Amino acid sequence: MASIIFFLLLALSFTASAQRQTNITLGSSLTPITNSSWLSPSGLYAFGFFRQRDGYSIGVFLSGISLKTVVWAARRDDAPVPSNATLLFTSDGRVVLTSAQGSRTSIVSASQPASLASMSDSGNFVLYNSDREIIWQSFDHPTDTLLPTQQLRAGAELVSPVSETELSTGIYRLKMQTDGNLVQYPVNTPDTATYAYFASGTNGDDVTLNLDPDGRLYLLNSTGFNIKNIADGGYPTKETINIMKLDADGIFRLYSQNLTLNGNWSAVWNSTRDKCQPKGSCGLNGYCVVKDQEAECICLPGFKFVTQGNWTSGCERDFDAESCKDKNGSSAYTMEELSNIAWEDVSYSVLSSTTKDNSFGSFLMIFLLMLMPVKLFPTLSHVSRLWLEN
Ligand SMILES: *[C@@H]1O[C@H](CO)[C@@H](O)[C@H](O)[C@H]1NC(C)=O
Ligand SMILES: *[C@@H]1O[C@H](CO)[C@@H](O)[C@H](O)[C@H]1NC(C)=O
Ligand SMILES: *[C@@H]1O[C@H](CO)[C@@H](O)[C@H](O)[C@H]1NC(C)=O
Ligand SMILES: *[C@@H]1O[C@H](CO)[C@@H](O)[C@H](O)[C@H]1NC(C)=O
Ligand SMILES: *[C@@H]1O[C@H](CO)[C@@H](O)[C@H](O)[C@H]1NC(C)=O
Ligand SMILES: *[C@@H]1O[C@H](CO)[C@@H](O)[C@H](O)[C@H]1NC(C)=O
Ligand SMILES: *[C@@H]1O[C@H](CO)[C@@H](O)[C@H](O)[C@H]1NC(C)=O
Ligand SMILES: *[C@@H]1O[C@H](CO)[C@@H](O)[C@H](O)[C@H]1NC(C)=O
Ligand SMILES: *[C@@H]1O[C@H](CO)[C@@H](O)[C@H](O)[C@H]1NC(C)=O
Repeated sequence: MASIIFFLLLALSFTASAQRQTNITLGSSLTPITNSSWLSPSGLYAFGFFRQRDGYSIGVFLSGISLKTVVWAARRDDAPVPSNATLLFTSDGRVVLTSAQGSRTSIVSASQPASLASMSDSGNFVLYNSDREIIWQSFDHPTDTLLPTQQLRAGAELVSPVSETELSTGIYRLKMQTDGNLVQYPVNTPDTATYAYFASGTNGDDVTLNLDPDGRLYLLNSTGFNIKNIADGGYPTKETINIMKLDADGIFRLYSQNLTLNGNWSAVWNSTRDKCQPKGSCGLNGYCVVKDQEAECICLPGFKFVTQGNWTSGCERDFDAESCKDKNGSSAYTMEELSNIAWEDVSYSVLSSTTKDNSFGSFLMIFLLMLMPVKLFPTLSHVSRLWLEN
């Protein structure tokens, strides 16, 4: 009963004043076990230590719900720290993580010393200088999540996590380009159309991606006009929180949670139904098929997974080149038909064979370059991808 009242209060105060903040003064500190976070006034958000794998990481998370949800992570690719680490807001205005041995790691990259920090009810962790000007805020350095009232500015991007539980950098990104187009690419690819798998098709200078509390996800141009709704929103806001996240599978979704029920997040909207749309999930020599609404990677005939269970590692030849030579010592090839497959790039040769009856419609003859080492196409490993058209 007490917890129900707590969450009601929490939800009400959240919707009432998202701008309230908890001030954190110079010299404050946190440790993973006791005093592990600084709560926003409503208690909905917190900045501090959260458990990850065998240790602790630093970030902003929803603390007022049973399933802790991390919405921003500091130095997401750093290894978690043990329980004897300390987070310090130093007297000279820096936020540093200190190990028991005494080594120090800066958590934020502010250009000048801070004189005050704050955790707001909107989920933003902010540093101010002595003139009370904002010098750094977590909202400007998003990881994989966009919160209501947070903007993804021109030039910024969200990067997917490795998995639902492993928050370090994954393989997809959603970029708010400076040309006004909101585009998804695999990581480590240039911002060119060849690699894109989602685009809003908009343009303009200083376009921003915005999320309203009701889940409306939209693009504003520099004069504040809505140039496109990505998601129409209209989801309940009373006692409910709606957030947007770029998931490990490369699809971005809106998640909703009824704070009074304190249950699970439910996905209310997604950027695509096609789980094979994100490019590169299958790695080299693999292709994606949707099976029971889930994406699955399959190796081309004659190939097997480099690492079983790791699709991004791709597929390699499961025979040696010698077996392609016939008794006379000359080369022989196997040709196999893969129907209803679309090639995403030109890293394979496609032959129209005259030796096979193709009167039943179009099909692709895939000429597997059996004598050619697979490693000839390493740079294409993130983009070779096929999909089933039917
Ligand atoms: C926190 O600091 C800001 C800026 O100095 C101030 O306006 C606000 O009243 C403070 N809030 C609390 C709860 O002390
Ligand atoms: C937690 O922090 C508060 C305020 O900074 C302090 O009064 C309290 O003693 C700390 N508790 C522990 C267990 O360190
Ligand atoms: C801190 O904890 C780690 C892991 O438990 C341990 O290896 C290390 O010796 C500890 N350091 C100190 C100074 O206690
Ligand atoms: C923003 O969009 C509005 C409506 O389409 C348009 O009139 C205005 O010129 C745009 N602003 C810029 C800076 O492009
Ligand atoms: C949230 O759950 C409470 C308790 O079941 C219910 O009364 C309320 O209508 C729900 N709110 C929404 C927006 O679904
Ligand atoms: C939340 O999801 C987990 C796993 O999907 C399930 O076991 C649990 O019962 C769910 N909890 C609620 C309150 O729906
Ligand atoms: C995506 O959302 C649509 C409704 O908008 C739903 O029908 C579909 O099942 C969802 N797909 C996934 C993969 O979540
Ligand atoms: C899967 O393979 C890729 C490429 O070889 C590697 O970078 C990644 O760490 C592997 N992932 C897992 C979970 O082992
Ligand atoms: C080897 O070459 C001979 C003569 O050209 C040919 O008759 C025979 O079929 C070839 N054998 C194989 C296995 O291709």
